[in-house]
Amino acid sequence: LTDTFTLINDVKIPVVGFGTWQTPDGDVAYQATLDALKAGYRHIDTAAAYGNEESVGRAIADSGIAREDLFITTKLWNADHGYTETQAALTLSLQKLGLDYVDLYLIHWPNPVAFRNEWQQRNADTWRAMEEAYAAGKVRAIGVSNFQVHHLEELFKTATIKPMVNQLFLNPSDTEAEIVAFDNAHNILNEAYSPLGTGAIFDLPEVQTVANRLNKTVAQVVLRWSLDKGFLPLPKSTHTERIIENGQLFDFELSAADTAIIDNLHGKFGFHTEADEAKF
Ligand code: A2P
Repeated sequence: LTDTFTLINDVKIPVVGFGTWQTPDGDVAYQATLDALKAGYRHIDTAAAYGNEESVGRAIADSGIAREDLFITTKLWNADHGYTETQAALTLSLQKLGLDYVDLYLIHWPNPVAFRNEWQQRNADTWRAMEEAYAAGKVRAIGVSNFQVHHLEELFKTATIKPMVNQLFLNPSDTEAEIVAFDNAHNILNEAYSPLGTGAIFDLPEVQTVANRLNKTVAQVVLRWSLDKGFLPLPKSTHTERIIENGQLFDFELSAADTAIIDNLHGKFGFHTEADEAKF
């Protein structure tokens, strides 16, 4: 859990992050984050929209772990796209987290419903504010989430710093080949949210077969597969034993045959579609 990828700006990022989407604010988010930190996770992924930044921040403070040993990500919500809006939203997120800086700040979605006719300009303005926050040391890296190729190409027209990360819905069912290849070509790290397909992976007997053979769990096999693809998985759980389990990925390997079985799950529980994106 202390292994790292290195971003294009030389910032090191632990290869597995603890996901907190759909983790309720309050005691649940507090305890889950604290459990993750006790289990050795050093990378926590939250977002303004998850509504749990305060609880996550409290757990970080109570863990007693030195700030420089942690990697904390949060995200700008859709209502806050724009230059001054981004500045204010980042200030509020830092305040809620109780931090002077975050390690990574992401634009959560490229094309919010509220700004459908002006998303290009909004993203350009947002990005300018994020570049300034980066220069000011309020964030150690900046990036995006849920961006497809055309969203990034548009951003590149005005950006002076390229995104370092693109966080995507990535799992064996949905591997997003086009954007992943584009990101790789631009040295943008692909982070995988919902690496377990928000739990759908547990319904597939194929992975269980591989897990049984390796004496590992389904979650561990799929997270190992995610790492092998060069993704940075962000598994979410609110159960202590699962949180621990999801971090134990470094004492086994998938054979080519195991990998092929998991690769074959493409489409098994659906894709992230434009219709899904249109909701945000
Ligand atoms: P829970 O939070 O109740 O433990 P994803 O990371 O793809 O979003 O998937 C999260 C879902 O998978 C949640 O429903 C979570 O449930 C469940 N989950 C996470 N880790 C495990 C695990 N090791 N075994 C079984 N279910 C898990």
